[in-house]
Amino acid sequence: MRSAAWYGGEDRDAYIHRAWMRRGNPDSAFDGRPQIAIINTASDLAPCNSHLDTLAQSVKNGVWEAGGVPLNLPMISLGETLVRPTSMLWRNMVAMATEELIRANPIDGVVLLGGCDKTIPAILMGAASVNLPAIVVPGGPMMTGTFRGSPLGCGTDVWKLSEEVRAGLLSKAKFLSSESAMIRSNGHCNTMGTASTMGSMAEALGMVLPGVAGTPATDSRLLKASHESGRRIIDMVKEDLKPSDILTKGAFINAIVTLAGIGGSTNAVVHLLAIAGRVGVDLRLEDFDKYGSDVPLLLNLLPAGKYLMEDLHRAGGLLAVLQQLQPHLDSSAITVTGRPLVETLGEAEIYDADVIHQLSDPLQEKAGIAILRGNLAPLGAVIKPSAATPALLHHRGPALVFDGIEDFHSRIDDPDLNVDENTILILRGCGPKGYPGMPEVANLILPSKLLAKGVTDMVRICDGRMSGTAYGTVVLHVAPEAAAGGPLGLVRDGDMIELNVSQRSLHLEVSDEELSQRTPAASMTGAFANPKRGWERLYIDHVMQADRGADFDFLQGSSGSFIPRESH
Ligand code: FES
Repeated sequence: MRSAAWYGGEDRDAYIHRAWMRRGNPDSAFDGRPQIAIINTASDLAPCNSHLDTLAQSVKNGVWEAGGVPLNLPMISLGETLVRPTSMLWRNMVAMATEELIRANPIDGVVLLGGCDKTIPAILMGAASVNLPAIVVPGGPMMTGTFRGSPLGCGTDVWKLSEEVRAGLLSKAKFLSSESAMIRSNGHCNTMGTASTMGSMAEALGMVLPGVAGTPATDSRLLKASHESGRRIIDMVKEDLKPSDILTKGAFINAIVTLAGIGGSTNAVVHLLAIAGRVGVDLRLEDFDKYGSDVPLLLNLLPAGKYLMEDLHRAGGLLAVLQQLQPHLDSSAITVTGRPLVETLGEAEIYDADVIHQLSDPLQEKAGIAILRGNLAPLGAVIKPSAATPALLHHRGPALVFDGIEDFHSRIDDPDLNVDENTILILRGCGPKGYPGMPEVANLILPSKLLAKGVTDMVRICDGRMSGTAYGTVVLHVAPEAAAGGPLGLVRDGDMIELNVSQRSLHLEVSDEELSQRTPAASMTGAFANPKRGWERLYIDHVMQADRGADFDFLQGSSGSFIPRESH
C-alpha cells in the first residue's frame, strides 16, 4: 500500500503518523489495509451538495466492511447559484486542491462525492491527475416540485417563468409564489442540466458503479450504492485499477454518445476536454461531432423534452438509455467494475417509453452537439441543435454587439434598440479570460419589445457558456474569445453573419483586409477586468481557451501519486 510509506515501520516518523491518527482507530487501522479518502464536497453554501455527509457515512460503512479505513476529506465546494463572479472561475481551484490533497496524504484510493455542476468535473480532474484508484458517487437529483399543478424543472422553468413575466403573461406575485415550490428536497437540479449531465458523464466514462447515476438524492438506494462504492474501492486498490485504465479514448467516446442520447448540457464539452487533458487522452472538439452528432435523442427530459430526473429513474434509469445506445458505444471501455461498460447493460429495461425512447423511435435524429468553424471561430464554437429552433439552424442576419454582460443588461430592453427577429445578438468579453471564468450568460434574454411581438428565439453568439438547463439557438464557447484576440472582438453592429449548422460554419461576412484594419474591442469589462493579485490573476495568466477545456496550461497531464520528501 502507498500508505505504508507513512504508517509502516518502527521509526520516529511512522510513530508520529500513526499516533496522531489513532484517536479511537484500532491497531488494525495501521496494519497495511487500504486508506480511502472520501473527497466530500458537502457544504452549506453548496446546497445541492449539503446531503453528501450522509452519503459519506454510507461510504465509510462500506469501506470498513471491506477491510479498509475511510477518511473524510472535506473539499472546497461550489454552489452554482451563489458563487460569484461564476463558479467556473473556481473549478480549476477545486481540481488543484483535490489533486494536491490526495497526493499529500497517506491515501491508497479515493471515493469522490459531488453533485452541483462544477463539483464532479473538478474532483474527477484532480483525481485523474493523481491516478490512484477512484470511484465517483454522484449526489443525485432533487425530487420533482410542482407549481400550478404542473411539474417544475429547476433552472429551465425559472427561465421560462421569468420570460413570461417580461412578456406580461404572468404576474410578479405568481412568479414569486413558484419560488418555494422550485426546490423540494436535497439534491441537485432535476432537469438534464449540467449536474445531471455530469453525473451521467461520470457513469458513461466508467467511473461510477453502473446504474447509480441519476438515483435521486433522497432515495435510500443511493445510500446502498454509496455503501457498495465504499466496498468496491477496496477491491480496486487491490486490483490497482486506476483512472488511467478506465478513462481511455473509448470511455470518452461513450461519454460523447451518451451526451447526445440524453440531450445533455453543452458544459460537458469543456469538462470532458479538461478531464481528457489530465489523463493524456487526445480528445478534440471535432470528436464531439464525429462520435456524437449522428446519435439520436432518446431521453425526453427538460430542457430538450418534458420530464425530469425522477422520471428517468422511474423509467429505467441511465442504464436503459445506454442499452439503447449500445450500437454506438465503444465495447472496449471498462468501468470501475473492471468489466466493459457494454457488459453491464444486459438487464436494463425501459418502463416508460415516453420518457426513454427506443433507438428505433427517437425523439430527434442526430441530436449531438455540433462543432462550428469559420472566420468568427477559428478554434471552434459549440451549438446544441436539439435545444435550438430548427428554422434558425441556417440563418443570416446583422450583428448587434454587446461588450460585456453589463452593457447587455443596460441596453437590451431599450425601446429604441435597433433589433428585429433577424438580428444576431453578440455578447463578448465572457470567455475564460475576459469575464474571467467563462460564465453561463450566453443564453441571452430576448429584447422585451420582440417578446411582446411573440418572438421566442433568436440566434445568439457568445464566447461564454450557457446553463445546462437553458435552451435556444445559441452559439457558445467561441474560441479564441474576444479577450484573447479572437475575431469576435472585431465584429461591429450591422456586420452580416451566417450560421449554417448543417455545414458546420459560422461566417462573418467581412473581408480579411477590413478585419485586419479594425481595432479589437475593449472586451475586458467589469470589476475583474485586470486583477493585480490572487486567484483571478493566476487564472487569467494560465487558463486555456474553451477548445482545451478551459483548464490551466500547467495542469495538463498527471503528476502521479509519488511524493519524494517527508515533512519532518
Ligand atoms: Fe446545483 Fe443546479 S444549482 S445543480
